[in-house]
Amino acid sequence: MRRKLVVGNWKMHGLAADLRELDRLADAHMHTACDVVICPPATLIATAAARIEATPLMVGAQDCHPQDNGAHTGDIAAPMLADAGARLVIVGHSERRADHGEEDTLIALKMRAAHRAGLQAILCVGETERERDTGQTLDVVGRQLADGLPDDADASNTVIAYEPVWAIGSGRTPDDTQIEEVHGFMRSILQERDTAQGDAIRLLYGGSVKPDNAAAIFAIPDVDGALVGGASLRATHFSAIIAALESARR
Ligand code: PGA
Repeated sequence: MRRKLVVGNWKMHGLAADLRELDRLADAHMHTACDVVICPPATLIATAAARIEATPLMVGAQDCHPQDNGAHTGDIAAPMLADAGARLVIVGHSERRADHGEEDTLIALKMRAAHRAGLQAILCVGETERERDTGQTLDVVGRQLADGLPDDADASNTVIAYEPVWAIGSGRTPDDTQIEEVHGFMRSILQERDTAQGDAIRLLYGGSVKPDNAAAIFAIPDVDGALVGGASLRATHFSAIIAALESARR
């Protein structure tokens, strides 16, 4: 049985005052049976982690460097994130692939760095709109998994998030059968690597998850939770998504 997981990605949003949202979330989900993670900007990780210490919430990060330390001005290494209180890190988000030219080989090194630091790594994969329109979705996702997943990836240190690039921040989502197809495909690839681990690795859907579509998405087979951007910034919205996951029957 895979434990349900919902991750909020604040992206480049959030000042210290916005951490109030975490108090509201913690109040509403003090006894949650799901894993609930907030990934604030790096500047807020340590304060956020201290603030939610006595709650079931966890703090994550949005990216890490592939090396553990070194002369890399402005970058943040995975051991630093763990030291600040992060438990997870998002790796290979499409905005980093687009804004910073990150490719699968670098992403695999970042996954390894996260694992060395004891962090769970969320590997993001997903096709662009053109790739979907030209029938390449499964090829793209298969390649991103094959090249981005390091050999040491297992259910204890790795989560996969399927995030179609065209669904992120757009208000559009794939239909249920499209999500089911990709999640089933990812599950079969993971099972081919290792049957038991492939069964146990959690698969998230991400891209315009909102309170009003969350329940339907969580009812899709092989969807173990969500990676949420915009709707994670306000506790009321994110809380409704958490509640939908809590009551999803799987
Ligand atoms: P969105 O972002 O929920 O705002 O579409 C999702 C993501 O980028 O992880």
